[in-house]
Amino acid sequence: MTIGIGILGAGAIAQVHAQGIADAGGRLVGFCDLDQKKAQQAGGQWDAQAWSSVEAMLGCDEVEAVVVAVPNAAHAPMAIAAMEAGRDVLLEKPMAMAAAECRDILAVRDRLNRRLQVGFVCRFAATVQAARRHIDAGRLGRIYHARAVMLRRRGIPGLGRWFTDRARSGGGVMIDLGPHLVDLILHLCGRPDVSRVSASTSSCFGHPPRGYRFAEMWSGPPNLDGVFNVDDSASALLRCAHGPTIMLETSWASHLPDGAIADGVTLFGEEGAAHFDIWGNAVTFGTQFDDEVVDVTHPIGADEGWGTAFRREHECFAAFCAGGDPGPSGEDGLGVQRVLDAMYRSAEEGVEVEVSR
Ligand SMILES: NC(=O)c1ccc[n+]([C@@H]2O[C@H](COP(=O)([O-])OP(=O)(O)OC[C@H]3O[C@@H](n4cnc5c(N)ncnc54)[C@H](O)[C@@H]3O)[C@@H](O)[C@H]2O)c1
Repeated sequence: MTIGIGILGAGAIAQVHAQGIADAGGRLVGFCDLDQKKAQQAGGQWDAQAWSSVEAMLGCDEVEAVVVAVPNAAHAPMAIAAMEAGRDVLLEKPMAMAAAECRDILAVRDRLNRRLQVGFVCRFAATVQAARRHIDAGRLGRIYHARAVMLRRRGIPGLGRWFTDRARSGGGVMIDLGPHLVDLILHLCGRPDVSRVSASTSSCFGHPPRGYRFAEMWSGPPNLDGVFNVDDSASALLRCAHGPTIMLETSWASHLPDGAIADGVTLFGEEGAAHFDIWGNAVTFGTQFDDEVVDVTHPIGADEGWGTAFRREHECFAAFCAGGDPGPSGEDGLGVQRVLDAMYRSAEEGVEVEVSR
């Protein structure tokens, strides 16, 4: 039977989840947002209910599972409240603000025997799924090095609002786009244990000069008088005890010439290498056939993209809630968060650090 889903938050990503639920054949019951107007608008748009308090939403029996899509500081308290009210949870990334909060969430999940999936939606991209199949078939051999790059030029989300206020976000681009990159690489490389991290961050574009042109914005227009006390670029080198070295590079803003550095994931294996843009239309492989060095392209359908990934994420969540296999797990979320915590510690201290157990 189709379960009823309530979305906690009626902001930018809540709309994408609503579409994902619809595409997956799910049943959206309603939206809850502290901003009552936003909840009502979203409810009206999706012919769904609207609540302005989590207690009201969790008091509705039709809501059997909850998508937590609120600012990062509210992830742990809201996920815990939903599970304590007997609901299964799809929790947006990052799982929480720090590993300690992830452990609190997992303790409640285990005590109450609830189901928890973390919103690592990039795993559901067609490119990633194709790459994973080739890796599982042994076509890359042992992967000794991996890179993930996601560089925006003018896309600071919600500049001046919660995204750029450390107290509500836990950090900047590293905790915003970083979870996708870290999870993807670990997912594709068989979840090696990251032991040491060296990272650096910078913060250059939070107080732009007059006339600065914004583009690719997310979650509303910039509030130039608002708070900005987070990183807007980050890079890191991750060392695994038994696994590849991993390089990550990400930014919300930069003056990078268009296309000068390709976004995407590159995996270097002993038998072959693979490269793809997560939302692109191909996965390309370099290898050798007999005595020829060859490049092979695995095309991805033109209808694939963010939307289909969210549809698959919701298909996975519905199947999980019905007793099927788990998708991205709370343990995966905790593992990613431990690496993020170490990345921030390394950037602050200016040295390579161990990832805490
Ligand atoms: N998976 C992805 O690719 C992806 C993309 C964007 C955002 N996200 C994540 O989704 C979450 C939300 O991001 P967004 O872009 O939608 O932000 P947003 O600012 O557009 O929306 C957040 C909404 O939550 C509401 N809110 C705040 N505290 C609340 C509370 N305690 N109870 C109910 N409502 C509350 C706000 O009023 C706002 O409407 C973040 O954790 C973000 O990291 C994930």
